[in-house]
Amino acid sequence: MKSFSDKISIRKPDDMHVHLRQGEILKVCAPESAKWFERALVMPNTNPPINNRERLISYKKEIEEAISYHENKTFTPLMSFKLYPEMKEEDVIKLSEAGAIAGKLYPEGSTTNSEDGIKSWEQIKEALSAMSKLGIVLSIHGEKPDSFVLEREKDYLPELFKIIEHYPDLKIVLEHISSADGINAVITGPANLGATITVHHLLITLDDLIGQGIDPHNFCKPVVKTPKDREAIKNAVLSGNRKFFFGSDSAPHLESAKLKAGGSAGIFSVPAAIPLLVSFFEKNGSQELLENFISKYGAEFYKLPLNKSSITLERKENKIPGKFLDIIPFMAGFFI
Ligand code: DOR
Ligand code: ZN
Repeated sequence: MKSFSDKISIRKPDDMHVHLRQGEILKVCAPESAKWFERALVMPNTNPPINNRERLISYKKEIEEAISYHENKTFTPLMSFKLYPEMKEEDVIKLSEAGAIAGKLYPEGSTTNSEDGIKSWEQIKEALSAMSKLGIVLSIHGEKPDSFVLEREKDYLPELFKIIEHYPDLKIVLEHISSADGINAVITGPANLGATITVHHLLITLDDLIGQGIDPHNFCKPVVKTPKDREAIKNAVLSGNRKFFFGSDSAPHLESAKLKAGGSAGIFSVPAAIPLLVSFFEKNGSQELLENFISKYGAEFYKLPLNKSSITLERKENKIPGKFLDIIPFMAGFFI
């Protein structure tokens, strides 16, 4: 594989799936996203959730405000809303007019703040058909919460295919894809089905979570899986298939929330993501594949213009900080 030069310039990347949180955590995490990304699709599982026009507008303002004191001010938050049972078409229309580009489906009990989630796609028929008409993307946390933890993604696929069957024009993203079964479903599924891939699902397995003592900082939902699953994810990324694009699923939690029994799922990966991806593609792929994956295919799927600005990445020893506030990032303290 050809090495990259010591200084590369690429189109500024997009993060098509991030959790920025609220309040003090947002003030730390939003500027970190702005440092690396031109745009990011912000997830709506806040408390209270982003599920109406007013909340979406005020959350967007809160994010913009958090960025405004920092040097990377060009960052644009792309907004999503959280689907809820019996959601009405008029609510989706209002959210669309307020700028939402995606609606997120959390199966009930699948992850952080999903107790108010969806039991069956039939509860959101009206919203799904409105989204399909308006061109709003359906973003899915694709896990069946009551299945065995390693099979939750696979077991969600029949539900996914029911949605596809009933809404053939709806654009769908299977988020943070984590299994060979999921990858296969996306490859063989229709053209309007895509998937985000995180840096942690691309690089680590269950061994990094529980193989040498528990490492709660590698715990997320869906959990990282087997070497075979990781291989399928790697092959999907390296195939250059435009259905697969980057979404960090960076999900910060305070250390105290992670280091306890029943600790929170989520990996704060933004500070390490781009350096890790550069080195992954240098080892296994090419600069063109890197740029397509982080700066092109996501925008194309969402029908957004490609970013015009660029980011310059220099080869130097890059140490991931040990902490941001009281949040431990992915690969904390490592040199990448
Ligand atoms: O690990 C996760 N954390 N997965 C998700 O889907 C949600 C996220 C969070 O919000 O903490
Ligand atoms: Zn997420």
